[in-house]
Amino acid sequence: MILKTNVLLLMAFLLLACSEQGPPKVFTDDANVAAQVEDLLAQMTLEEKVGQMNQYNGFYDVTGPAPSEGDAKNKYEHLKKGWVGSMLNVSGAAQVREMQRIAVEETRLGIPLIFGLDVIHGHKTLAPIPLAESASWDLEAIEKSARVAAIEASARGINWTFAPMVDISRDARWGRVMEGAGEDPYLGAQIGVARIKGFQGDDLSAHNTIAACAKHFAGYGFAEAGRDYNTVDVGTSTLYNVIFPPFKAAVEHDVKTVMNAFNILNGIPATANAWLQRDILKQKWGFKGYVISDWGSGFEMIAHGYAKDLEQVAELSANAGSDMDMESYAYVKHLADLVRAGKVEEAKIDEAVRRILTVKFELGLFDDPYRYCDAQREKELIYHDDHKAAVLDMARKSIVLLKNEGELLPLSKSQKRIALIGALADDNNSPLGSWRIGSDDNTAVSVRDGLKAYSAQVEYAKGADVVTGETAFAVPLNINNNDRSGFAEAVRLARKSEVVVMVLGEHGFHSGEGRSRVNIGLPGVQQDLLEAVYKVNKNIVLVLMNGRPLALPWADKHIPAIVEAWQLGTMTGHAVADVLFGAYNPSGKLTMSFPRHVGQCPIYYNHYNTGRPTGGNGVFWSHYTDESNDPLYPFGYGLSYTTFSYDKLQVQVEPGNKVTVSVEVTNSGERAGEEVTQLYLHDKVASVARPVKELKGFKKYRLEPGETKTLTFELTPTELGFYDNEGEFIVEPGAFSLMVGTNSQEGLWADFNW
Ligand code: BGC
Repeated sequence: MILKTNVLLLMAFLLLACSEQGPPKVFTDDANVAAQVEDLLAQMTLEEKVGQMNQYNGFYDVTGPAPSEGDAKNKYEHLKKGWVGSMLNVSGAAQVREMQRIAVEETRLGIPLIFGLDVIHGHKTLAPIPLAESASWDLEAIEKSARVAAIEASARGINWTFAPMVDISRDARWGRVMEGAGEDPYLGAQIGVARIKGFQGDDLSAHNTIAACAKHFAGYGFAEAGRDYNTVDVGTSTLYNVIFPPFKAAVEHDVKTVMNAFNILNGIPATANAWLQRDILKQKWGFKGYVISDWGSGFEMIAHGYAKDLEQVAELSANAGSDMDMESYAYVKHLADLVRAGKVEEAKIDEAVRRILTVKFELGLFDDPYRYCDAQREKELIYHDDHKAAVLDMARKSIVLLKNEGELLPLSKSQKRIALIGALADDNNSPLGSWRIGSDDNTAVSVRDGLKAYSAQVEYAKGADVVTGETAFAVPLNINNNDRSGFAEAVRLARKSEVVVMVLGEHGFHSGEGRSRVNIGLPGVQQDLLEAVYKVNKNIVLVLMNGRPLALPWADKHIPAIVEAWQLGTMTGHAVADVLFGAYNPSGKLTMSFPRHVGQCPIYYNHYNTGRPTGGNGVFWSHYTDESNDPLYPFGYGLSYTTFSYDKLQVQVEPGNKVTVSVEVTNSGERAGEEVTQLYLHDKVASVARPVKELKGFKKYRLEPGETKTLTFELTPTELGFYDNEGEFIVEPGAFSLMVGTNSQEGLWADFNW
């Protein structure tokens, strides 16, 4: 009661202070927070402590009557008893305020709830899907995009996002590649950190910053055969050098929470994995925040064959360091009894609660539990023009030009008769992607609308639907595999046009969670449509809209211009039009390899060599007899409307200290443009074999036509070393080579000894 009175008094004071000076700036002095957490902990019953470790999904419309039966009634009663520490999927200033009011005013201690939501690439105003954003290689823009997301989400009551997903993945079959930053741990770590900075800002207690969550710890991106939720079985070298680095970087940059994962990792479910959560994350890396389970991942341990019932789930998860349970009901039902039975030490509960309360204090929720529920801010900030400008900038930067033969692009405004074909061209829903949970359907600018701003000469024909029937986050898609009735009109239009822009690819709900695919070409009848149009007009610009790498060897061989436009969010159409008409010179580079054939998956540039890497025309070397080993488009690849040439690679070694690398890059074309120069390293002989190449530096910069720039990179032991199979970071002297260039396959090489 004492605490609750304090909170109310403080709130009254802050309201007064606020009216004069805007939102209050509050304390988060560490010692102060720690003391307050201890004080509160000492007042809590065992059940109240366990309550802090329990997270429920939103269960009723708080602006309506209180639930009177079933599961919702149960949850409601738990909420009023203080047995709930957090809610997810409740948003909107009014809704969150009312839910928070119950926690603060109707429970014994009045501990505020923390409200989590999947704010993945924006909340209302949507930025490109994360995989697309990563193709920008622009950390500043990515940070800003996360900032915009935090501003909008925090105005709607949200103070915690389940992002960034920092899972490295190499398999285009896995639908969740759309949510990550691709296949490279070095880039992935930096992008994860940029997102965390954007969400959390410099001051977590400010009313427009929210706690971030690095997920899914660990290995979720390595689901066997790219099938979501599948088994993960990886060796220590991959764990330490590929899977862990983005999580470690997130911890080093003070990410407030980490989510564990659905998968088993080498036989142990991540949620019950004490080695992952206690030994590595909390002890070795010194993670100070708390771990949230994934949705029901505790409960799923029964299906994994690791726990016999929910009680054992609670015991295993709590002992392993999973601090908060999302929707398994395991803790709320069993944890207090398990403590009383001596199966879980109360000290472990205290530790988890301390972590959770600390984040709540840092967010300022004890100063003002309604800090994030300001209806006025909500009204002013949602879909704000500044946010639209930021996501448009991000969208342009995310586009990757894959092919431009004969310089079909950019289109000229004076171009007569442009045919626009494809259902996705006229779609203002698909560009929002699948993780648009807080946003509103059909709010993207379609490509068709975007092109209108440039040319009145655009005529449209759908050609064919990609999907039919209902489409939604949780509904399986119904692909159009038969209906070609619109082909004739599309072909007629193409025949009389100078140039054809075809927007083909995946529906917005084709990728994302639970959306694995084995056919990663163009879904449905779209390939047939493309070939039918090609027969009458070869001047095709293929604009791809998709959430994962696609395998499109036919298109690569025949279509002169290909633009990878992903799902670019709210401002999609304008960004695509700006690139097609040359107002923006594309600068994106792929962060996942695009295979030639799905059978190559997983395919990634930073693979190991084999003992038989080459063999000419012979049989007994590591290859496919019916397909090349190479990807269709490699990691780091992307063209521009200008060209860049590389010269004068120089390497200077200061043994034991650093290696300095310099190179000259010239804009050898006729337009200004941005290049992303990439540095790759190969450790030729090591005590644990190293990949053929690893990204260890990159720079993005702009050059005017004819301009030359000298770039300098420094490699220190951090870049030159690696983790051995015991997880120790080691730096070994010896022979290395490095490549500096425009993508992971083209560049200048040099050897050196370290
Ligand atoms: C996903 C998480 C997500 C959670 C809450 C799960 O199904 O795997 O990434 O944050 O749901 O929506």
